Amino acid sequence: MKHINIAELSGFMDNFRSGIFPALVTPWCDETLRGLVETRTPPSNYERLKLLSDALGGLAYLHQNRLAHRDVKGANILVKAESNLSNDSPNIQRMAYLTDFGFCKDIAQYLNPDISSTMQQSTQWMPPEYDGKGYHEARTTGDMWSFGCTFLEILRGNDPWHPVQDPQHRTLGIHI
Ligand SMILES: Nc1ncnc2c1ncn2[C@@H]1O[C@H](COP(=O)(O)OP(=O)(O)O)[C@@H](O)[C@H]1O
Ligand SMILES: [Mg+2]
Repeated sequence: MKHINIAELSGFMDNFRSGIFPALVTPWCDETLRGLVETRTPPSNYERLKLLSDALGGLAYLHQNRLAHRDVKGANILVKAESNLSNDSPNIQRMAYLTDFGFCKDIAQYLNPDISSTMQQSTQWMPPEYDGKGYHEARTTGDMWSFGCTFLEILRGNDPWHPVQDPQHRTLGIHI
């Protein structure tokens, strides 16, 4: 997997803190996109849209390669200031990178329920068809729902369903 808006995999560590899964190592970034909009000097809406568009480029690349991310949200988009040497007047601009591929899944595997995993987190970003009970499916459409939630999250600077706290009320809200 190699794309300008996908966090680069530098390596992985087995038995990190005695965990059962290997830890994936990526180059250090300054912030997450969610963290950036919560700082005292948040980026303009124009820059937020630019960074969301970066992340969308990374997501499109995954989908073109028949992969579903399944945990798209502002905390899983890293941001780093990079020097732009592509024109005559070099300047620094922020770039966004999609990260956290812990739930990423080959779409083809969705056809075999035996190797489906369950995901119990990020319910506010989860598509309504999964309604918080578990996230078995690997569909690119689910990622697009989550990206829409991320769009609202980043433009408004809070969780997608804020201030609704109860996940059941969120589901009801969607069906209404
Ligand atoms: N390369 C990185 N540079 C800086 N911070 C990072 C980096 N990778 C992860 N983080 C921070 O760690 C958090 C958790 O990492 P993540 O890969 O999303 O794993 P998980 O959510 O499964 O624990 C991120 O939301 C971010 O705040
Ligand atoms: Mg994460």
